[in-house]
Amino acid sequence: MTTALSKPKQETVSVNSTNSPQINAASLDSLSPNQQLLPLTALVNSHDRLEIGGCDVVDLVQQYGSPLYILDEVSLRTACQQYRDAFAKHYQGQSQVLYASKAWSCLAVCAIVGSEGLGIDVVSAGEILTALRAGVSPSLIYFHGNNKSLEELTYALESGCTVVVDNWHELKTLESLALEQTSKPRIMLRLTPGIECHTHEYIQTGHIDSKFGFDPNEIDAVFAFLSKSSLNCVGIHAHIGSQIFELQPHQDIGGVMVQWFKLAGEKYGLKFSELNIGGGLGIRYVESDDPPSIEEWVKTVSAGVTDAFVAEGLALPKLLCEPGRSLIGSTCVTAYTIGGSKTVPDIRTYITVDGGMSDNPRPITYQSKYRAVVANHMSASLSQTVTIAGKHCESGDILIKDIQLPVTNPGDILVVFGTGAYNYSMASNYNRLPKAAAVVVEGGESSLIVKRETREDLLRQDCLPERLRQ
Ligand SMILES: Cc1ncc(COP(=O)(O)O)c(C=O)c1O
Repeated sequence: MTTALSKPKQETVSVNSTNSPQINAASLDSLSPNQQLLPLTALVNSHDRLEIGGCDVVDLVQQYGSPLYILDEVSLRTACQQYRDAFAKHYQGQSQVLYASKAWSCLAVCAIVGSEGLGIDVVSAGEILTALRAGVSPSLIYFHGNNKSLEELTYALESGCTVVVDNWHELKTLESLALEQTSKPRIMLRLTPGIECHTHEYIQTGHIDSKFGFDPNEIDAVFAFLSKSSLNCVGIHAHIGSQIFELQPHQDIGGVMVQWFKLAGEKYGLKFSELNIGGGLGIRYVESDDPPSIEEWVKTVSAGVTDAFVAEGLALPKLLCEPGRSLIGSTCVTAYTIGGSKTVPDIRTYITVDGGMSDNPRPITYQSKYRAVVANHMSASLSQTVTIAGKHCESGDILIKDIQLPVTNPGDILVVFGTGAYNYSMASNYNRLPKAAAVVVEGGESSLIVKRETREDLLRQDCLPERLRQ
């Protein structure tokens, strides 16, 4: 399996060293795969073009059009294996990694992740359906969400998924649904651990003022309810946020959760066996990002949980986690075709691409930063500072501000790195743009995993009442 930038075909140009280093062939070498910015198989081929999974990115755009999400299968499988291997090495109890499919839910992604032995965390009936159709066992599907509908809960129970219960309304709904089931529905409880972390406000979830999970004040009442219920509660869950670089908050989860494990057993006779500590490990989008490795994260959470449970004299729980971004974020790039440009004298030059906030809403939503290269001239010198604008009718539709690129021309291919997580899954049809296609690449072969929408697809759900017809 390829795990490093392949040397033979690669340009060996010196590392670019401006104050704000940018990527081209010169700096690919310095951005080793361990630094998580590039897919593991990225290299510059003899045509001076970017290649991923053995496929020339410019050829891929010719074949499939743009914008195009390009998913590197080797990178995704490697990340799954890193999680699995790290738990085997650092945790003495049982463990199960679940892929948080909100990061990118589609059949092929669920199938790859499932074939690596991971389960799937889902947040809607649509994500359940996708995981099931991809062949994932319902026993490995965990259903989250703070407002699951009756129809979704029924579907989840009938499918045999575990429901991670978020609030009283849901708990009581499940209790009444349990009466119609032949076996006790398998549930977990989502609790708000009161752990703060430094990330964007919108993706913090573990602090007390959060819409998710039961408040610590409610826990006694919830456990008392469960002790007399028809539900099979197997454990508790917490997720503290996303794109987190600090290890301390994740280390602290064990200490908080063990108290509730203990309370459940000692006071209410509830026998919990599973502890789910959520996801949240961040990835490197730009050079200045410095996240811990998957192994460091797993080692830390394993130690935190082990120490806390040993100190309380409790058996180690089956430890679950549900990473999304750190599994898939760096495994995918988005290729765009460059269109026109506009220079505002003494201010900036805008270069436009044929996508934008509809295929990547993260910059406009979270002010997220990305890195990019011109894939058809990988070793051209980085001679201009430009801003990459999307094509949407929105001034804020800027993908990357102030990036150094070579001179570009209309028709050049711009590749943005790190677009595997929360891009396709958050994509929209804003301005009635058809959603982009996605391919998976491996060993020089590319296969379509999501078809490009057509103009006609955009009208598929529209209805024109008779009286409005002209
Ligand atoms: C409950 C839950 N679990 C897991 C995740 C995945 O987080 P990440 O992609 O940061 O690993 C999220 C993301 O918001 C989440 O809400």
